Amino acid sequence: MLEPVKVGILGLGTVGGGTVHILQQNAEEITRRAGRGITVTHAGAKEINQTHPFRTDNIVLAQLTEVVNDPEVQIVVELLGGTTIARDLTLQAIANGKHIVTANKALIAKHGNEIFAAAQKQGVIVAFEASVGGGIPIIKAIREGLAANKIKWLAGIINGTSNFILTEMRDQGREFTDVLAEAQQLGYAERDPTFDVEGIDAAHKLTILASISFGIPLQFDKAYTEGISKLTAEDVHYAEELGYRIKCLGIAKRTETGIELRVHPTFVPKTHLLANVEGVMNAVLVQSDMLGQSLYYGAGAGALPTGSAIVADLVDVVRSLTTDPGNRVPHLAFQADALSDFPILPITEVESAYYLRLTALDKVGVLAQVTTILSQNGISIEAIRQHEPQGGASSVSIVLLTHKVLEQQINQAITAIEQLEGIAGKVMRIRLEMLTK
Ligand code: HSE
Repeated sequence: MLEPVKVGILGLGTVGGGTVHILQQNAEEITRRAGRGITVTHAGAKEINQTHPFRTDNIVLAQLTEVVNDPEVQIVVELLGGTTIARDLTLQAIANGKHIVTANKALIAKHGNEIFAAAQKQGVIVAFEASVGGGIPIIKAIREGLAANKIKWLAGIINGTSNFILTEMRDQGREFTDVLAEAQQLGYAERDPTFDVEGIDAAHKLTILASISFGIPLQFDKAYTEGISKLTAEDVHYAEELGYRIKCLGIAKRTETGIELRVHPTFVPKTHLLANVEGVMNAVLVQSDMLGQSLYYGAGAGALPTGSAIVADLVDVVRSLTTDPGNRVPHLAFQADALSDFPILPITEVESAYYLRLTALDKVGVLAQVTTILSQNGISIEAIRQHEPQGGASSVSIVLLTHKVLEQQINQAITAIEQLEGIAGKVMRIRLEMLTK
């Protein structure tokens, strides 16, 4: 049998530890699958701590650049995160003829076009299964398993932190800031939670999924991104009352005029499978023309789940080492010269149903004015409820669900409603998706 393939890891964190553990624990099975062993021989970090546990695994601890320049290293596993040093080192490793395995969704979403072009020129592979949905093999499922299909849309819960917060808000009736503080204390949420709770992390992942689903270049800057930080316990409660749950979804949809690419809190019928994905779990629902709906569920983060995806990519790369670079699975599922320039639609051209919550002064005629504005904008009402004033308050909450309408129409209606004398403050607006076909 051939010698084991030598791997260098960039980054000495949790996922690196998980990857080393899996390669050791399942070495025999992995060798049987790959046709030869896979060993981590080098690990690099910005600051090297010679007492790091990797030391005892016979792994050479070195500077980051030493790892990408070491001729012994055949595959570089990039686990640094971020898009500056990670981009430079990835491009340098590619220039050195090394294959790349990465978990870095921001890097792929923002610089993937450049990285894949460089890789193609060098005849090397950049594998990125761990960048979306942690351990769920969603990239492989879409790129290869669904290759016979035209994908119509996909909708995913692809940020575990947001899903954990939404689950707690619903289960405990708690407010966003309260749950976030606890999640940070428990170490689930980062000290700077912006990427997770403002939908940016999900938009990175969605950008990648959209590219491999529709055969379009990566276009993160065109994704519409709205997080969960403005949701209130009241909205979560009203959603339940109306038969829905609020989930932060990443949605990519092919329409006649372009592709929708959007991350936002979404009302989902509470009996829907996606509505029942709880806590930190991830799930992606794909609607494709031949298979119909298929659902992919699992752990979206963590040392072993993410390490599982990294090692699967390593096995793939090792199997492909001797193959003709021109006949490998294309990075973005479609041949690089066959990518489409079908446009990404601005959010104003997206069609959706909506939940609206208004705070109305308890006076005659306010509701009639609101419904008039909606009908003037061609918006049909599906359900409407007025809640009793709480504790002697002079205002009431009115919630309503609309039929499908263009976003620009609902925006116009909201602006007009907010100008009414009988309406206090801003209108809360949350998109609603049935996710049936
Ligand atoms: N921060 C991500 C999440 C995990 O909360 O899902 C890594 O992608």
